[in-house]
Amino acid sequence: MCGIIGYIGKRKVIPLLLQGLKRMEYRGYDSSGIALIHDQKFQLYKQKGRIEELEKVLNGTAGDASVGIGHTRWATHGEPSVLNAHPHTSSNGKIALIHNGIIENYSELRKALAKKGYKFQSQTDTETLVHLIQEFYEGDLVNAVLRALRRLEGTYGIAVLHVDEPDRIVVARKGSPLVVGIGEGENFIASDLAAIVEYTRDVIFLEDGELGTVTTDNFHHFNLEESVIKRKVTHIDFNLDQIEKGGYKHFMLKEIMEQPQTLENTMRGRALDDIGEVRLGGLIRRLDELKDAERIMLLACGTSYHSGLVGEYMIEEWARIPVEVEYASEFRYRNPIIPPNTVAIAISQSGETADTLAALREAQARNALGLSIVNTVGSTIARESEGGIYLHAGHEIGVASTKAFTSQVTVLALFALLLAQQRDFPTDKIKEILGELRRIPSLVERILKKDREIFEIAKIFSRASNFLYLARGPNFPVALEGALKLKEISYIHAEGYPAAEMKHGPIALIDRMMPVVFIATRDKTYKKVIANIEEVRSRGGTIIAVVNEDDEEIMELSDYVIRIPSCHPMLMPILTAIPLQLLAYHIANLLGRDVDKPRNLAKSVTVE
Ligand code: AGP
Ligand code: GLU
Repeated sequence: MCGIIGYIGKRKVIPLLLQGLKRMEYRGYDSSGIALIHDQKFQLYKQKGRIEELEKVLNGTAGDASVGIGHTRWATHGEPSVLNAHPHTSSNGKIALIHNGIIENYSELRKALAKKGYKFQSQTDTETLVHLIQEFYEGDLVNAVLRALRRLEGTYGIAVLHVDEPDRIVVARKGSPLVVGIGEGENFIASDLAAIVEYTRDVIFLEDGELGTVTTDNFHHFNLEESVIKRKVTHIDFNLDQIEKGGYKHFMLKEIMEQPQTLENTMRGRALDDIGEVRLGGLIRRLDELKDAERIMLLACGTSYHSGLVGEYMIEEWARIPVEVEYASEFRYRNPIIPPNTVAIAISQSGETADTLAALREAQARNALGLSIVNTVGSTIARESEGGIYLHAGHEIGVASTKAFTSQVTVLALFALLLAQQRDFPTDKIKEILGELRRIPSLVERILKKDREIFEIAKIFSRASNFLYLARGPNFPVALEGALKLKEISYIHAEGYPAAEMKHGPIALIDRMMPVVFIATRDKTYKKVIANIEEVRSRGGTIIAVVNEDDEEIMELSDYVIRIPSCHPMLMPILTAIPLQLLAYHIANLLGRDVDKPRNLAKSVTVE
């Protein structure tokens, strides 16, 4: 999903903008461009495709300009093309703008501006805004931007230049993240910290409805009502090696392989198994409301939705509180009923997913306590929630979420136990489960050692055109997650289903050409899953089964088995997800897919 970078200071701006755009490539994009001011004129470079294509257009030009803006576009209005790439310039050529988000009333604005004689070069919604700013410009760029934004409906993160005001960049934010990076005699702008963290870790976050003027030594910050804002500088504690591949071919593989460490980090200081207690610092001010909670709503999209489905089993089993897991995009438009003492939790790796943010706001507007489970520190969902739990899984670069999923499930287990311990759930049971949780990182380590074995299975099935993933109980959401992993990076169609549901339709699909992946580890539904495996076998289906290490029974029934260690049945989803992540990765890699940046996908979907 789109990226913004801007700079004003003493360095040569072109190399800095290009490097910043490359740091954001993992988010997914289709075109890019930069604009810089030199001798009171714009130098504009735009190109379709990867940043390397833009570099070819620049042909090594470094220039000596020291103020500029850069953008990676994820098209919403108008096809990916040079014309539609950002920056867009005003009719008089004096203003350049880059924009993340969607301008919902662009069509009426475009008609009104065309009537005034404005000529449009592109099909984008964004171009409307740059002409509107020109329309309002009377010698003060930030005031013209302010007046234009007041006419806008939709979402934006923007950076704007004016050739007659070369000592400043105007920024504004509503629904699409933006930060100002504070340097010495220089300042930075970014939609993603990865773009500027190598230059500064001191940042000021913009909130929705805020804007300002960035110069080499100041950030004049205020809101749409023109009230001045004095926000403290936040020091970010992640560094570059977290956004490097560490010797792996893909970020996704690195992030799969680092899960033992990330799971340790997620649990650190929180899972006190020796005393049978859970401590979640981010919820400390909400313990009374949690004690009174009578309903939990988990709001999320994609992989985060799947982790929420696992959380439902845990919370209902241990805390005995009813849980609803909702697709955020559906929840927000459904006119939901939110009874008193409802706790809504937004689950989001990026903390910027537009639908999840909107669903959280909707729940809060209906008096739910809005909490969050987020990976990205300082993200919008984290800042707008009234308490929450950070995953501490480190930056997740691969578009296909892996380590975030297992950390989300781990956090949900801790959260379920926190609720349970408030409701007199026996301490020795909490101790037992926490003890099992503490084993998880080493068990994951053992599963990762089966990478070669899983690669061999991937080789056999990489040409399949459809997959079915079946499971029951807390592993059912992992069947959904395994199917999502495969389809989003290999482009092979895959479907996850509750195993029992297979006979209500999908069984018609079974033939030798359709690999069926069963998660068949021992729990109270184990015998039922065996029956489902038999049903598939008797129709000639090919079976890949994820089973416990000592399982011989399913071995006889399956064409291929992946053996994994056992732990508490409710925690098995953390383990069963790992082989499915590796299976998807290897199949996609064998097919030569762009594993870290799959087609059409974005790491953070900040548009609705
Ligand atoms: C997962 O592999 C996908 N990249 C996608 O479904 C993702 O989980 C979804 O967009 C939600 O993202 P979030 O967790 O950052 O909100
Ligand atoms: N809506 C704008 C466009 O389609 C911006 C898309 C983005 O966020 O990259 O150009």
